[in-house]
Amino acid sequence: MKSVKASAPGSLFFAGEHAVVYNLPAIVTAVGKRTYVTATQRLDNKIIIISDSFENAEAQIVGQSLINRKFEKIALEPLLDLCEKCVQEFKLTQGFELNIESEIMPESGMSSSTAVLCAILKALDGLHNWNIREENYFDFLLPFQVKIHGGKASGAELASSSIGGFNLVQKIQIGNTTKLNRTNLGKKEFCIVIGNTKIRSATALAVQHVANLKQRKPKSVEEAFGKIEKIVKEMEKAIAKGNEIKVGELMNENQKWLTVLGVSHPKLDECIQTALAYGALGAKLSGGGWGGCMFALVRKQDQNKIANALKELNCESIVTEIGVEGVRIEK
Ligand code: MEV
Repeated sequence: MKSVKASAPGSLFFAGEHAVVYNLPAIVTAVGKRTYVTATQRLDNKIIIISDSFENAEAQIVGQSLINRKFEKIALEPLLDLCEKCVQEFKLTQGFELNIESEIMPESGMSSSTAVLCAILKALDGLHNWNIREENYFDFLLPFQVKIHGGKASGAELASSSIGGFNLVQKIQIGNTTKLNRTNLGKKEFCIVIGNTKIRSATALAVQHVANLKQRKPKSVEEAFGKIEKIVKEMEKAIAKGNEIKVGELMNENQKWLTVLGVSHPKLDECIQTALAYGALGAKLSGGGWGGCMFALVRKQDQNKIANALKELNCESIVTEIGVEGVRIEK
């Protein structure tokens, strides 16, 4: 049976998460931890999803719909929705199996859900030879990202996970259509250490919290978003100059405003303070917050020392690259 394996990277925000949902700019990068999806053709009309994190789901293709949907974890529902969209868009009648294996812990702030969406689309594309361009992944996948994030999502990580690289992104609204402007910031030799607190945190809840706060305290959220917007703009310039000291300072500034928005967590704060005490140039949470990952921008010579200090705090410490390749077919 024909089988295609594809992968997509997770993402980290250098600046601008949460504000990016409200059409402000952000800087987001692909990271060297990936999600792998193997798509295998079936002889019947069944769709089967086997996920290392969320167990199994299945459905049957009848007409242009998926019926008899069954899933053990609700997290698999948007993945069946994506399969249904592929069935409708490409008039599929024959089923397939998707096997998902991920190096990215779910709900860890490294955009595991985005990596799954991108890797599924790439694997199905490879299986059926649709030749979808990476630039079109955002349009295709945004509705599923919105559902996963509980009704509001920037889709920023769809750009880093599909196209890869280190990117300045900004969502724009043209009538009823949402688009994403993206500027590649080039290959940067920045060294990072990621500290995963292993506290699982659903992005949807943190996004909802910020939406509620915006209603209750519009002035303070507007102020935080305004400062974050300035940080992103200054960081773009600092990155262009390769000024990592300035990038680190701006990460610290961004972390302060994320704390004002109420999305940090005492464990994230402890990890951030420790990384800075051990010489990190800057450190902040990434993604939704309330748990998950923080990361530190570090000098090469401090990388192992900071990784060990985070391990001492009971975190999973991850030393990996940034600005890596987006979706790809695996050999
Ligand atoms: C989550 O990874 C990033 C957020 O900005 C939400 C989004 O952009 O959709 C918190």
